[in-house]
Amino acid sequence: MAVIAIIGAGNIGSQVARLAVKAGHQVVLANSRGGEGLEPLVDELGANARPAVTVADATERADVVVVAMPIHSYVALPADAFGGKIVIDTGNYYPGWNGNIAELDNESTTTAEILQRLLPGASVVKALNHVVAAELTSTGSPAGSEDRRALAMAGDDTDAKRVVQSLLDSFGFDVVDVGPLSEGWRFQRDLPAYAVRLDAAEMRDALAGAVRYRDLPRN
Ligand SMILES: NC(=O)c1ccc[n+]([C@@H]2O[C@H](COP(=O)([O-])OP(=O)(O)OC[C@H]3O[C@@H](n4cnc5c(N)ncnc54)[C@H](OP(=O)(O)O)[C@@H]3O)[C@@H](O)[C@H]2O)c1
Repeated sequence: MAVIAIIGAGNIGSQVARLAVKAGHQVVLANSRGGEGLEPLVDELGANARPAVTVADATERADVVVVAMPIHSYVALPADAFGGKIVIDTGNYYPGWNGNIAELDNESTTTAEILQRLLPGASVVKALNHVVAAELTSTGSPAGSEDRRALAMAGDDTDAKRVVQSLLDSFGFDVVDVGPLSEGWRFQRDLPAYAVRLDAAEMRDALAGAVRYRDLPRN
């Protein structure tokens, strides 16, 4: 059993929490309001979930921290609370929501590399960003199932990726490792691996066939 801290308890964070508890892990949830408003979700999740007052309280004993909040709020995260932690970046860049971020507009970096820069003591792995939140609890299946859904993962730390792979497997998914964080763009918004149910072979094809936004044909 692992302790999973989830920073952000909206669409994606609440779904990851449900998966984690179902898989037998303990969950600690934080939001932007000192934990206010988390009671219904914590009640639903039961004895293996608790709210945290601060992000640091949530991360303190966590084996894995899932960052499930808008990327424009990443700057508010207390870097000291993430030292030595494995951190999953679930974020996507939607300029209409996040505002324009020049280095994402020009594709010189990715959301997860920005998070890694903000949390230098952590090992950031990009994962869980390319699944519609509602599907997280409905499309997983046991290891070895035919056509098991596969999720993509990118990261620079091999040991951290091994832990994340094991976690995602416990959630009901195969995992395809795309390589370093800089390759995380391959499963970002609107590309072939995004918001589509694929098995591992299909996922590999989708990732290999991804084209950067700037190279997409314009009509
Ligand atoms: N929605 C999906 O289907 C989906 C799927 C995959 C990935 N994603 C990505 O996941 C991220 C979150 O999306 P979402 O749809 O889950 O958003 P959401 O429903 O709006 O939830 C955002 C959560 O982040 C929390 N938050 C915001 N700033 C925070 C801070 N400084 N410290 C702690 N918590 C903070 C919010 O807390 P409060 O409630 O207190 O404001 C809220 O719980 C986005 O980058 C999105 O692109 C979404």
